[in-house]
Amino acid sequence: MIKLELADVGMRFGDVVALEGINLAVPRGSFVCVVGASGSGKSTLMSLVAGLTRPTSGEVRLDGYPVTMPGPDRGLVLQSGAVFPWRDVERNVGFGLELLPRLSKAERSERVLRYLEAVGLNEFRHALPKHLSGGQRQRVAIARALIVEPEVLLLDEPFGALDVQTKEDMQLLIRKVWRDTGTTVLMVTHDVEEAVFLGQRVVVLASRPGRVAADLSVPLGDHRDLSVKREDSFLALRAKIEDLVRAFHRTGGQGPRQVVAARSYTDSAARTRSAELSPPEPVEVTRPDSRT
Ligand SMILES: Nc1ncnc2c1ncn2[C@@H]1O[C@H](COP(=O)(O)OP(=O)(O)OP(=O)(O)O)[C@@H](O)[C@H]1O
Ligand SMILES: [Mg+2]
Repeated sequence: MIKLELADVGMRFGDVVALEGINLAVPRGSFVCVVGASGSGKSTLMSLVAGLTRPTSGEVRLDGYPVTMPGPDRGLVLQSGAVFPWRDVERNVGFGLELLPRLSKAERSERVLRYLEAVGLNEFRHALPKHLSGGQRQRVAIARALIVEPEVLLLDEPFGALDVQTKEDMQLLIRKVWRDTGTTVLMVTHDVEEAVFLGQRVVVLASRPGRVAADLSVPLGDHRDLSVKREDSFLALRAKIEDLVRAFHRTGGQGPRQVVAARSYTDSAARTRSAELSPPEPVEVTRPDSRT
């Protein structure tokens, strides 16, 4: 069952074609990561799915209906880690629960406490955002999105401002929330290691225009702990995707065709190359129908 769908989505900003012909289906309950170089259109894609902006062509659909505005069914963590400056940590994190009248006061407090602990901010619960570090503010934003346990979680580089240890704690937290709640996650990141660790699928965006260059399944199973990052199969997939990101990153006068042609790839990457030279088609599209 498809939860979220981008059908031939394009987005132009004047002469800049940020996204073009994006077709992407995110099945209910799946975890899909989108990677791409800076400027490849990742945040633009997120903003369209969140309903913050409308595409200039094509359509974004949620449960089959066009997305026209933000909604409580989609929890969003932005790259900038935006929080309410006038609310303390506890009231920032609890914000979304105010919109859920079915919860009792005791249930709300319990949930706020649980998520404050999960992101390690319990002792800062009465602090205002201006007294927090960038990484702490980002964790407030993460807890605020997770606490409502939304049907869809949209994460735009949510861990970019965090140190490696905190980042890995947050990666484990996101995986736990995903597995416990059955939410559908779409996450964009430039961090390929993170994408492979978290995603069931990794979609690679090509730059200028932003297009789907590759769509690869991550055959690592559901029970992943951090040690998987050191396994050979993990490292090989990571290297392959990093090569793809680099190959499809248009820099200066050197376009992706030249870069791709100069490299040698495995079978699937060869198909990617032909996809690049002919009409853009996603390669290796896999639709995991269950959590493996
Ligand atoms: N509001 C806007 N007005 C004009 N151009 C924009 C706007 N938003 C994005 N763009 C352009 O669209 C392209 C994609 O930008 P986007 O922010 O989506 O990239 P990104 O993949 O998120 O990059 P990063 O990894 O640096 O966050 C860029 O060329 C950018 O200049
Ligand atoms: Mg971005």
